[in-house]
Amino acid sequence: MSANAWHDIVKKVNIMTNAKDRVKVGVPGFDELCHGGLIRDRTYLVSGTSGAGKTIFALQYIYNGITKFDENGIFIATDERPEYIRQNALEFGWDLVKLEDEGRLVIVDASSTKIGIPTQEKYVDVRPFDIRSLMEQIIAIQEEIGAKRASLDSSTAIGFYLQDPAKIRIELLKLSTTLEILGLTSIMTCEIVDESQTNRFGVETFVTEGTIAMYYKQQDNERVRSIEIYKMRGTDHSKRIHPYEITNNGIEIHPTEEVFL
Ligand SMILES: Nc1ncnc2c1ncn2[C@@H]1O[C@H](COP(=O)(O)OP(=O)(O)O)[C@@H](O)[C@H]1O
Ligand SMILES: [Mg+2]
Repeated sequence: MSANAWHDIVKKVNIMTNAKDRVKVGVPGFDELCHGGLIRDRTYLVSGTSGAGKTIFALQYIYNGITKFDENGIFIATDERPEYIRQNALEFGWDLVKLEDEGRLVIVDASSTKIGIPTQEKYVDVRPFDIRSLMEQIIAIQEEIGAKRASLDSSTAIGFYLQDPAKIRIELLKLSTTLEILGLTSIMTCEIVDESQTNRFGVETFVTEGTIAMYYKQQDNERVRSIEIYKMRGTDHSKRIHPYEITNNGIEIHPTEEVFL
Protein backbone atom coordinates (compact mmCIF):
# COMPACT_ATOMS: atom_id res chain seq x y z
CA MET A 1 0.00 0.00 0.00
CA SER A 2 1.33 3.44 -0.87
CA ALA A 3 2.06 5.96 1.87
CA ASN A 4 -0.70 8.19 0.52
CA ALA A 5 -3.33 5.46 0.61
CA TRP A 6 -2.32 4.55 4.16
CA HIS A 7 -2.49 8.20 5.16
CA ASP A 8 -6.03 8.43 3.73
CA ILE A 9 -7.20 5.41 5.71
CA VAL A 10 -5.74 6.76 8.97
CA LYS A 11 -7.43 10.10 8.31
CA LYS A 12 -10.81 8.43 7.69
CA VAL A 13 -10.55 6.32 10.85
CA ASN A 14 -9.67 9.45 12.85
CA ILE A 15 -12.68 11.27 11.46
CA MET A 16 -14.93 8.30 12.27
CA THR A 17 -13.70 7.89 15.85
CA ASN A 18 -13.71 11.63 16.53
CA ALA A 19 -17.15 12.16 15.09
CA LYS A 20 -19.40 12.82 18.04
CA ASP A 21 -22.78 11.19 18.14
CA ARG A 22 -25.39 13.92 17.80
CA VAL A 23 -28.81 14.05 19.37
CA LYS A 24 -31.20 15.93 17.14
CA VAL A 25 -33.36 18.36 19.07
CA GLY A 26 -35.76 18.33 16.13
CA VAL A 27 -36.99 21.88 16.75
CA PRO A 28 -37.12 23.18 13.15
CA GLY A 29 -34.00 25.23 12.45
CA PHE A 30 -32.13 24.35 15.64
CA ASP A 31 -29.87 21.43 14.72
CA GLU A 32 -28.30 23.23 11.80
CA LEU A 33 -27.10 25.94 14.21
CA CYS A 34 -24.85 23.41 15.96
CA HIS A 35 -23.62 20.98 13.30
CA GLY A 36 -26.42 18.47 13.62
CA GLY A 37 -27.55 18.61 17.24
CA LEU A 38 -26.47 18.25 20.85
CA ILE A 39 -23.54 16.00 21.70
CA ARG A 40 -24.81 12.74 23.18
CA ASP A 41 -24.72 12.14 26.96
CA ARG A 42 -24.22 15.76 27.87
CA THR A 43 -26.36 18.29 29.72
CA TYR A 44 -27.40 21.67 28.35
CA LEU A 45 -28.88 24.78 29.88
CA VAL A 46 -31.78 26.64 28.24
CA SER A 47 -32.09 30.08 29.80
CA GLY A 48 -34.60 32.86 29.34
CA THR A 49 -37.02 35.17 31.09
CA SER A 50 -40.54 34.06 31.98
CA GLY A 51 -42.57 33.50 28.82
CA ALA A 52 -39.52 33.09 26.59
CA GLY A 53 -40.55 29.55 25.61
CA LYS A 54 -38.19 27.42 27.74
CA THR A 55 -40.82 24.91 28.84
CA ILE A 56 -42.07 24.47 25.28
CA PHE A 57 -38.49 23.97 24.03
CA ALA A 58 -37.71 21.41 26.76
CA LEU A 59 -40.94 19.52 26.03
CA GLN A 60 -40.58 19.66 22.25
CA TYR A 61 -37.11 18.13 22.66
CA ILE A 62 -38.59 15.19 24.60
CA TYR A 63 -41.64 14.83 22.32
CA ASN A 64 -39.50 14.84 19.14
CA GLY A 65 -37.13 12.33 20.69
CA ILE A 66 -39.94 9.83 21.19
CA THR A 67 -41.95 10.44 18.04
CA LYS A 68 -39.21 11.17 15.49
CA PHE A 69 -36.07 9.47 16.78
CA ASP A 70 -37.40 6.56 18.83
CA GLU A 71 -35.70 7.79 22.00
CA ASN A 72 -37.75 7.60 25.19
CA GLY A 73 -37.86 10.62 27.47
CA ILE A 74 -38.24 11.84 31.05
CA PHE A 75 -39.74 15.24 31.84
CA ILE A 76 -39.23 16.52 35.39
CA ALA A 77 -41.66 19.32 36.16
CA THR A 78 -40.80 21.45 39.18
CA ASP A 79 -42.89 24.51 38.35
CA GLU A 80 -46.00 23.38 36.54
CA ARG A 81 -48.34 20.54 37.40
CA PRO A 82 -48.21 17.65 34.91
CA GLU A 83 -51.92 17.98 34.10
CA TYR A 84 -51.33 21.52 32.81
CA ILE A 85 -48.31 20.41 30.85
CA ARG A 86 -50.41 17.70 29.15
CA GLN A 87 -53.20 20.19 28.41
CA ASN A 88 -50.85 22.83 27.02
CA ALA A 89 -49.05 20.23 24.89
CA LEU A 90 -52.35 19.33 23.19
CA GLU A 91 -52.40 22.90 21.79
CA PHE A 92 -49.43 21.85 19.67
CA GLY A 93 -51.02 18.51 18.81
CA TRP A 94 -48.71 16.60 21.18
CA ASP A 95 -50.59 13.77 22.86
CA LEU A 96 -48.45 13.09 25.92
CA VAL A 97 -50.93 10.71 27.57
CA LYS A 98 -50.60 8.33 24.64
CA LEU A 99 -46.80 8.30 24.97
CA GLU A 100 -47.07 7.78 28.73
CA ASP A 101 -49.47 4.87 28.21
CA GLU A 102 -47.03 3.33 25.74
CA GLY A 103 -44.23 3.52 28.33
CA ARG A 104 -42.14 5.90 26.25
CA LEU A 105 -42.57 9.03 28.35
CA VAL A 106 -42.50 9.67 32.09
CA ILE A 107 -43.49 12.99 33.59
CA VAL A 108 -42.27 13.43 37.16
CA ASP A 109 -44.46 15.64 39.32
CA ALA A 110 -41.89 17.60 41.30
CA SER A 111 -44.24 20.49 41.99
CA SER A 112 -47.17 19.17 44.08
CA THR A 113 -45.33 18.04 47.22
CA LYS A 114 -43.28 21.23 47.07
CA ILE A 115 -46.40 23.31 47.62
CA GLY A 116 -48.10 20.65 49.75
CA ILE A 117 -51.03 19.69 47.56
CA PRO A 118 -52.24 16.14 46.86
CA THR A 119 -51.50 14.55 43.52
CA GLN A 120 -52.81 11.59 41.54
CA GLU A 121 -49.65 11.31 39.50
CA LYS A 122 -47.84 7.97 39.18
CA TYR A 123 -44.37 9.53 39.39
CA VAL A 124 -44.04 12.00 42.22
CA ASP A 125 -40.92 13.53 43.69
CA VAL A 126 -41.90 12.89 47.32
CA ARG A 127 -38.93 14.67 48.84
CA PRO A 128 -38.84 17.84 46.84
CA PHE A 129 -35.45 19.49 46.36
CA ASP A 130 -33.64 16.45 47.69
CA ILE A 131 -31.37 15.86 44.70
CA ARG A 132 -30.46 12.42 46.00
CA SER A 133 -34.06 11.21 46.03
CA LEU A 134 -34.59 12.74 42.58
CA MET A 135 -31.53 10.90 41.29
CA GLU A 136 -32.78 7.61 42.79
CA GLN A 137 -36.12 8.12 41.11
CA ILE A 138 -34.52 8.84 37.73
CA ILE A 139 -32.44 5.65 38.08
CA ALA A 140 -35.65 3.66 38.76
CA ILE A 141 -37.46 5.24 35.80
CA GLN A 142 -34.45 4.54 33.63
CA GLU A 143 -34.68 0.83 34.48
CA GLU A 144 -38.32 0.93 33.49
CA ILE A 145 -38.26 2.81 30.18
CA GLY A 146 -34.58 3.08 29.12
CA ALA A 147 -34.82 6.74 28.22
CA LYS A 148 -32.25 8.59 26.14
CA ARG A 149 -33.44 12.14 26.84
CA ALA A 150 -34.40 14.10 29.93
CA SER A 151 -35.60 17.62 30.63
CA LEU A 152 -35.52 19.27 34.04
CA ASP A 153 -37.92 22.20 34.01
CA SER A 154 -36.56 24.11 35.87
CA SER A 155 -33.22 24.13 37.65
CA THR A 156 -34.18 27.50 39.11
CA ALA A 157 -36.70 26.01 41.55
CA ILE A 158 -33.92 23.85 43.03
CA GLY A 159 -31.63 26.86 43.21
CA PHE A 160 -34.16 28.91 45.17
CA TYR A 161 -34.42 26.17 47.74
CA LEU A 162 -30.69 25.66 48.21
CA GLN A 163 -29.87 29.39 47.97
CA ASP A 164 -26.12 29.06 48.53
CA PRO A 165 -24.45 29.19 45.06
CA ALA A 166 -21.71 26.74 46.14
CA LYS A 167 -24.38 24.22 47.18
CA ILE A 168 -26.43 24.80 44.02
CA ARG A 169 -23.34 24.21 41.93
CA ILE A 170 -22.45 20.90 43.58
CA GLU A 171 -26.04 19.58 43.63
CA LEU A 172 -26.68 20.46 39.98
CA LEU A 173 -23.31 18.95 39.09
CA LYS A 174 -24.31 15.71 40.85
CA LEU A 175 -27.56 15.70 38.93
CA SER A 176 -26.06 16.45 35.51
CA THR A 177 -23.31 13.86 36.05
CA THR A 178 -25.88 11.23 37.06
CA LEU A 179 -27.93 11.97 33.94
CA GLU A 180 -24.82 11.65 31.78
CA ILE A 181 -23.75 8.36 33.39
CA LEU A 182 -27.27 7.00 32.85
CA GLY A 183 -26.87 7.67 29.12
CA LEU A 184 -29.24 10.63 29.04
CA THR A 185 -28.75 13.73 26.93
CA SER A 186 -30.48 16.43 28.92
CA ILE A 187 -31.83 19.92 29.02
CA MET A 188 -32.13 21.97 32.20
CA THR A 189 -34.12 25.15 31.93
CA CYS A 190 -33.12 28.23 33.87
CA GLU A 191 -35.30 31.25 34.52
CA ILE A 192 -33.51 34.58 34.54
CA VAL A 193 -34.89 38.00 35.41
CA ASP A 194 -32.61 40.13 33.30
CA GLU A 195 -31.60 39.26 29.74
CA SER A 196 -28.02 40.35 30.32
CA GLN A 197 -27.61 37.16 32.40
CA THR A 198 -27.43 33.58 31.18
CA ASN A 199 -28.08 31.99 34.57
CA ARG A 200 -29.91 32.90 37.74
CA PHE A 201 -27.44 31.91 40.45
CA GLY A 202 -24.25 32.41 38.48
CA VAL A 203 -23.30 28.72 38.61
CA GLU A 204 -25.67 26.84 36.30
CA THR A 205 -23.55 27.34 33.17
CA PHE A 206 -20.57 25.79 34.97
CA VAL A 207 -22.30 22.44 35.38
CA THR A 208 -23.58 22.20 31.82
CA GLU A 209 -21.79 21.61 28.53
CA GLY A 210 -23.69 24.26 26.64
CA THR A 211 -26.00 27.23 27.11
CA ILE A 212 -28.85 28.15 24.81
CA ALA A 213 -30.28 31.60 25.48
CA MET A 214 -33.88 32.41 24.52
CA TYR A 215 -34.75 36.11 24.36
CA TYR A 216 -38.13 37.79 24.42
CA LYS A 217 -37.30 41.45 24.02
CA GLN A 218 -39.30 44.56 23.46
CA GLN A 219 -38.54 46.33 20.18
CA ASP A 220 -40.63 49.46 19.55
CA ASN A 221 -44.19 48.39 20.27
CA GLU A 222 -43.79 44.64 20.03
CA ARG A 223 -41.80 41.79 21.54
CA VAL A 224 -39.41 39.85 19.39
CA ARG A 225 -38.37 36.27 20.09
CA SER A 226 -34.81 35.22 19.36
CA ILE A 227 -32.43 32.42 20.26
CA GLU A 228 -28.67 32.14 20.56
CA ILE A 229 -26.25 29.29 21.20
CA TYR A 230 -24.21 31.07 23.81
CA LYS A 231 -21.84 28.22 24.59
CA MET A 232 -21.45 24.67 23.29
CA ARG A 233 -18.35 22.76 24.23
CA GLY A 234 -16.82 20.34 21.76
CA THR A 235 -18.37 21.71 18.60
CA ASP A 236 -18.57 24.72 16.36
CA HIS A 237 -21.92 26.51 16.34
CA SER A 238 -23.65 29.62 15.10
CA LYS A 239 -22.54 32.76 16.95
CA ARG A 240 -25.53 34.72 15.70
CA ILE A 241 -28.87 35.56 17.23
CA HIS A 242 -31.71 34.01 15.24
CA PRO A 243 -35.41 34.84 15.32
CA TYR A 244 -37.94 32.17 16.28
CA GLU A 245 -41.68 31.87 16.53
CA ILE A 246 -44.06 29.86 18.65
CA THR A 247 -46.72 28.50 16.31
CA ASN A 248 -49.41 25.84 16.55
CA ASN A 249 -46.63 23.32 15.90
CA GLY A 250 -44.39 24.59 18.69
CA ILE A 251 -41.09 26.43 18.30
CA GLU A 252 -39.73 27.21 14.83
CA ILE A 253 -36.36 28.88 14.41
CA HIS A 254 -35.31 30.80 11.30
CA PRO A 255 -31.63 29.85 11.05
CA THR A 256 -30.83 31.94 8.00
CA GLU A 257 -32.23 35.14 9.49
CA GLU A 258 -30.64 37.29 12.16
CA VAL A 259 -31.98 39.81 14.63
CA PHE A 260 -30.08 42.77 15.98
CA LEU A 261 -30.79 43.51 19.60
N1 LIG B 1 -50.32 27.64 20.96
C1 LIG B 1 -49.51 28.70 21.04
N2 LIG B 1 -49.28 29.48 19.98
C2 LIG B 1 -48.44 30.54 20.06
N3 LIG B 1 -47.78 30.89 21.16
C3 LIG B 1 -47.96 30.15 22.25
C4 LIG B 1 -48.82 29.01 22.25
N4 LIG B 1 -48.78 28.47 23.50
C5 LIG B 1 -47.93 29.22 24.21
N5 LIG B 1 -47.44 30.23 23.48
C6 LIG B 1 -46.48 31.26 23.94
O1 LIG B 1 -45.52 30.62 24.76
C7 LIG B 1 -45.40 31.31 26.00
C8 LIG B 1 -45.11 30.34 27.13
O2 LIG B 1 -43.97 29.60 26.84
P1 LIG B 1 -43.24 28.79 28.00
O3 LIG B 1 -42.40 27.76 27.32
O4 LIG B 1 -44.21 28.31 28.99
O5 LIG B 1 -42.32 29.94 28.63
P2 LIG B 1 -41.26 29.83 29.81
O6 LIG B 1 -41.17 28.40 30.22
O7 LIG B 1 -39.98 30.36 29.21
O8 LIG B 1 -41.76 30.74 30.88
C9 LIG B 1 -46.71 31.99 26.21
O9 LIG B 1 -46.57 33.14 27.01
C10 LIG B 1 -47.15 32.32 24.79
O10 LIG B 1 -46.60 33.58 24.38
MG1 LIG C 1 -41.58 27.47 32.04
